Amino acid sequence: MSLATSTFDQFLPAAAAPAPAQRPVELDLFRSLLSSRSGIDFNRHGDAFLENRLRRRMTEAGARTLFEYYRMVTTQTGGSELQKLIDAVAIHETAFFRNAPQFRTLESVAFPDRVRRRLVAAQRRVSVWSAGCSTGQEPYSIAMSFYDSVVLPDTWDLQVLATDISTHAIRTARRGHYSSVQVEGVPSERLKEYFDRGPDYYSVRQWVRRRVEFAAGNIFDGAPRRDLDMIFCRNLMIYLDEARQRRLVALFADALAAGGYLFLGHAESLTGLSAAFRMVSVGQGIAYQKVA
Ligand SMILES: C[S@@+](CC[C@H](N)C(=O)[O-])C[C@H]1O[C@@H](n2cnc3c(N)ncnc32)[C@H](O)[C@@H]1O
Repeated sequence: MSLATSTFDQFLPAAAAPAPAQRPVELDLFRSLLSSRSGIDFNRHGDAFLENRLRRRMTEAGARTLFEYYRMVTTQTGGSELQKLIDAVAIHETAFFRNAPQFRTLESVAFPDRVRRRLVAAQRRVSVWSAGCSTGQEPYSIAMSFYDSVVLPDTWDLQVLATDISTHAIRTARRGHYSSVQVEGVPSERLKEYFDRGPDYYSVRQWVRRRVEFAAGNIFDGAPRRDLDMIFCRNLMIYLDEARQRRLVALFADALAAGGYLFLGHAESLTGLSAAFRMVSVGQGIAYQKVA
């Protein structure tokens, strides 16, 4: 009977599993090279992801094998092929006002609090570091939120310092041009207020762009300045091992002013990493405040 057959089938020896595809040993060489240069733990990406991107760059660079490409990357003076490789393997996914509840926390708690503290200290500067800013949507969103939530924003010196290890992402960010798909999440009033309409793109208005300063750089080289009011480092730490996450959080605690805020990605947290912060939340929007 078919029922009996299928019940007993599970006790039959399994058919020999197909031999796993040969995994190129060069992948490990690239993994450790990329990890030492960018801090990204490539064990967290699948082999297929890394190998696809490596092979694409290898072909574009004119190398015939992964080993030849590895030699090219590690011996080239100036490191330009290494930079291209980092650009190619980094994940740049981002969006304007990504994680809306967090932006509500920024506008209703973090900016008002930081502005009040600066006023008490007779200062009119607010500085924010967007670390791992990708193609610019995050730092521009922060600047727009400032204008929408602070009284007399023009009387303040807002500095949004935005950095990323990818020079390609930084070039795109500086240009400030975005397709209609990329601005889909921007509310229509903000689209009117902060963007100019180009022939087939939207461009962030010049006066907003002036508030954001972009630079290419590795986050592990340190913060662009100290006494920061806020740090956004979202969706970068998930790619790091725990030791590097700890190093980064210590770096952030050092660079923030007392009472400054740290914003992490929705899948990231400080649990078990640092006691220098307390959690602040408004609805689903979470931030961490440095305890003074
Ligand atoms: C997934 S994107 C996140 C962009 C943005 N923060 C957001 O949440 O929408 C991560 C960015 O971190 C950058 N990145 C990765 N490792 C880095 C490092 N060691 N230093 C600086 N940037 C890095 C990548 O190039 C990428 O653009």
